[in-house]
Amino acid sequence: MRLDKFLVATGCCTRSVAKKQVRSGAVTVNGYAPKTADVDIDPETDKVLFCGQSVVYRKYIYIMLNKPEGYVSATEDGREKTVLDLIPSDARRKGLFPCGRLDKNTLGLMLITDNGELGHRLLAPKSHVKKIYRFRSKFPISETDAARFAEGLVLEDGYETKPAEITLEGDGDEGLITLVEGKYHQIKRMLEALNNKIIYLERIRFGPLVLDERLSRGKWRYLTDDEIAMLESHGK
Ligand code: URA
Repeated sequence: MRLDKFLVATGCCTRSVAKKQVRSGAVTVNGYAPKTADVDIDPETDKVLFCGQSVVYRKYIYIMLNKPEGYVSATEDGREKTVLDLIPSDARRKGLFPCGRLDKNTLGLMLITDNGELGHRLLAPKSHVKKIYRFRSKFPISETDAARFAEGLVLEDGYETKPAEITLEGDGDEGLITLVEGKYHQIKRMLEALNNKIIYLERIRFGPLVLDERLSRGKWRYLTDDEIAMLESHGK
């Protein structure tokens, strides 16, 4: 495998940074600093150091994105900008996909990975992965409505939602909602069932992953080793 591809695949850096770092001598392979990033290495046996740190080969990559408004949760779309357009082409890998959906105007935590098996497991209805959203509604939510939310609501198409948690803040028109499922426009439709309307929605948690407050809207970063370990063991 080419050294620059290896550095991208391990989540170390983007291809352009890899090229620069190799040229500057900051990357060594078995103690020797190659001059260009297109040299072939064996990811299983060669010892690669990046700025003095040992680089471990990863089969998959995991990206945390702070989704801004105006992007659809898809790998490609003929008309709309997708969340993958926010990932520079040199950091993209074949098979990358957004794990779950947020509406075009919903903000916040989005996991992007090429680990299809993990994605499938986290999204399977039986996994009941918790998702936490910060919301603001048009009208305050009464204690009675909050109780209906917690029991499960019948949506306009007859679907009965699983019990969801709602924590009210401020004047009762904002707070946190926790879901263990992910039906189409679920929170918006739950509020509509209460004759109310969502005016702001941001996901701040997906299973064990918490939105990194240092990531501004539209920005992304690779998951840390701890975050990957938590995700991989989640629900097993
Ligand atoms: N519920 C919604 O209505 N929209 C989202 O994007 C996520 C949950």
